Amino acid sequence: MPTRNGLGYPREVHETRARAASQTKFLLEESQLPRRWYNIRADMPTASQPVLHPGTGQPVGPDDLAPLFPMALIGQEVSEEPEIEIPEEVLELYSLWRPTPLFRARRLEEAIGTRSRIFYKYEGVSPPGSHKPNTAVAQAFYNKQEGRRRLSTETGAGQWGSALAFACRLIGLECKVYMVRISYEQKPNRRSLIQAWGAEIVPSPSTDTQSGRAILEEHPDSPGSLGIAISEAVEDAAGRDDTAYSLGSVLNHVLLHQTVIGQEALAQMELAGAFPDVVIGCVGGGSNFAGLAFPFLREKIAGREIDVLACEPAACPTLTRGHFAYDFGDTSKLTPLVAMHTLGHDFVPAPIHAGGLRYHGVAPLISQLVLDGLIRAEAYLQNDVFASAVLFSGTEGILPAPEAAHAIHGTIRVAKKADEAGDERTILFNLSGHGHFDMGAYDSCFAGKLEDVALDEGEIERALRAIEGLPAPA
Ligand SMILES: Cc1ncc(COP(=O)(O)O)c(C=O)c1O
Repeated sequence: MPTRNGLGYPREVHETRARAASQTKFLLEESQLPRRWYNIRADMPTASQPVLHPGTGQPVGPDDLAPLFPMALIGQEVSEEPEIEIPEEVLELYSLWRPTPLFRARRLEEAIGTRSRIFYKYEGVSPPGSHKPNTAVAQAFYNKQEGRRRLSTETGAGQWGSALAFACRLIGLECKVYMVRISYEQKPNRRSLIQAWGAEIVPSPSTDTQSGRAILEEHPDSPGSLGIAISEAVEDAAGRDDTAYSLGSVLNHVLLHQTVIGQEALAQMELAGAFPDVVIGCVGGGSNFAGLAFPFLREKIAGREIDVLACEPAACPTLTRGHFAYDFGDTSKLTPLVAMHTLGHDFVPAPIHAGGLRYHGVAPLISQLVLDGLIRAEAYLQNDVFASAVLFSGTEGILPAPEAAHAIHGTIRVAKKADEAGDERTILFNLSGHGHFDMGAYDSCFAGKLEDVALDEGEIERALRAIEGLPAPA
């Protein structure tokens, strides 16, 4: 049985197995919202490598990070406590959309004719439409508490930018969003949503920062990348006392905040009278994947058998083809060095529609768990991913975000492989967001204009030259 004692769940679950077997939605009461975040650092078999100061090569301390982040978040970044209490104010905001539903994908199962059972946790019910506000409201809360007036951030597809704009609006902070240029152009409606929540938004690279201007000088047509937008947002925050930087993925504290997803899913799977053999999520920086998977990895580390699968785009195959190395989190080398799977900080991924998966690195916690064999990864081509997305919307009804569609595609592959092997699996995946602001991507799909980009080896070799000479992980 899952060991969730101490995470604050009422344990009484009165559903019968018979009823659960025919049920489609598994819902929790608001009172069953997790009261603590789960910190996997307390349970990891190998600790992740320290974050290094690029100048000295020494581990960074709280003082190095203080210009960018509030102390509460710096504390969470290095905490070894297994559980961290969620402040009441954050719980109150979570209750606007949490707990989120867990569905049994019966119609998808029928459509692909699988013997396996497929469940998904749906994070698209949040006001901005994805999992991102789980950390946005927490980050905005701690920044406000410590007296910051304004936050700066980057956004890829616009999901994170809209989540932070939403959180800042509700909590009472100003917000500036640097949006990757290609997404800024492809997704004008996300831009409007960000503005509706009162944030300022510019396409990145922009002329508002030195980093942006330098890139535009060399590449006036740069489509931008998350690495470039991070440089701009960090530079913005570092240059103003009233401003902190906020990151939507990758960092330990961001992954920590997302663990409400997996904790709820554990309780909901129990309502369904099931436990997953396979847990699946898409990976950009890694936050939605970690949010669902970490509470299940806690079970795996304790001895349960679970296959944990990370799905990424073939155009940006960080986990499947990147190197585990120290690298910068951004293009202009403004961040500290982190040990992670990377394609090199100046790698600019092809402009695929899953904008939120176009990042050269990945969360160090996920990298370490991949190295330790607790997580495996696969990479998929864009046309295959969209075919699965369209199949999903035609069976389950929800039009997925292109990022989340990678998890759907991974799920369908696992189910089909199990059928071929004569196996029956229970699969749980994270549907991290809806695709209502991604209609341009679906237009391209229906017009047959989606390009399949698998990265060639020469480009990976070129991009990885950027990390030569940086410290090597121990
Ligand atoms: C819906 C959705 N899913 C997934 C991601 C990828 O980010 P992460 O790997 O941090 O969850 C994004 C990022 O923008 C997103 O918008």
